Amino acid sequence: MNSHRGILITGGTGLLGLNWGQAVKDRFNVTLGLHQRRGVPPGTNGLDLPMNDAGKLTEAIEALDLELVVHAVGMTSVEACEADPQTAESVNVDMTAAIAEACQKTDTRLVHISTDHLFSGTRHGYTEELEIEPVNVYARTKADAEKVALERCPDALIIRTNFYGWGPSYRPSFSDWIISSLRTGKKVRLFNDVSITPMLATELARSVHEVVAKRGTGIFNVAGDDAVTKLDFGRSIAEIFDLDPDLIEPGRLADAKGLVRRPHDMSLSNAKTRALLGRPLGGVKEHLQILKKQEHSVLTRELANL
Ligand SMILES: NC(=O)c1ccc[n+]([C@@H]2O[C@H](COP(=O)([O-])OP(=O)(O)OC[C@H]3O[C@@H](n4cnc5c(N)ncnc54)[C@H](OP(=O)(O)O)[C@@H]3O)[C@@H](O)[C@H]2O)c1
Repeated sequence: MNSHRGILITGGTGLLGLNWGQAVKDRFNVTLGLHQRRGVPPGTNGLDLPMNDAGKLTEAIEALDLELVVHAVGMTSVEACEADPQTAESVNVDMTAAIAEACQKTDTRLVHISTDHLFSGTRHGYTEELEIEPVNVYARTKADAEKVALERCPDALIIRTNFYGWGPSYRPSFSDWIISSLRTGKKVRLFNDVSITPMLATELARSVHEVVAKRGTGIFNVAGDDAVTKLDFGRSIAEIFDLDPDLIEPGRLADAKGLVRRPHDMSLSNAKTRALLGRPLGGVKEHLQILKKQEHSVLTRELANL
């Protein structure tokens, strides 16, 4: 234990939780909330969290000297949420209510991780003010989670985003899948009719900490500067990692059979966050260059070993 203040990341074994912890563990005592997965990287602590129980969460938060809670628990599979709406509600909404209540009671800053998946996807560059139009169970539960977080903890910071990064061996990320497929000569099909504003997870953590330092509350889009199709994102990965772009085939969400309905355009405007931070948040190629540099770093090796 060092003299740093604490940060608790719920969903600490997920893609975002692990990358966030790695990004800040030299500045904070990082506690990663555990559920099924037990392994945590060196220099962080794992803690079982009673995510359904606001009273017990309050006790757990009181026992840690916390500056911040980042709530990154989520039932994140769109297909699984649609198949089991009750569990989706319990994980995405009820657990958010419990952690928000505990943060309010303990006067602890809460960052709630929301999504770019809240809209119907017929517009481009969604701002924080636009009315949300969820089109599936995942989106509806994430929309309800935002609402309940702000009801129970009015000074919460709600982050809408889309991210990628080096995942642990048990949960490869979108970028991991593209890179490993291209490296092993496998073809990948990527939608040319789905747009996102992707952000490297560690850059997302860095930007959110800046928003926190500037006392931002309410909803902020912390997303990349470039809106790209998933196809273009894959092609940029091929370019930066010097992989064969011909292995990438264009596909269309509109033609995909059997998938739960999802938005075509999920791009977020990050103008509000850029204005607060006084800097751009980073474009696709800039963040992919960082991803490339991270590949052989100790921090990424620690994730691969989990
Ligand atoms: N990935 C994206 O691009 C993206 C985009 C927008 C928003 N988000 C949001 O960002 C957040 C983090 O996403 P992610 O991609 O890091 O998710 P992830 O990799 O799927 O991890 C989810 C985390 O939640 C935990 N969890 C799941 N069910 C739980 C339960 N019943 N009780 C306690 N913990 C539970 C998991 O624990 P175990 O590992 O033990 O199962 C894991 O630590 C989510 O809220 C998601 O909605 C993600």
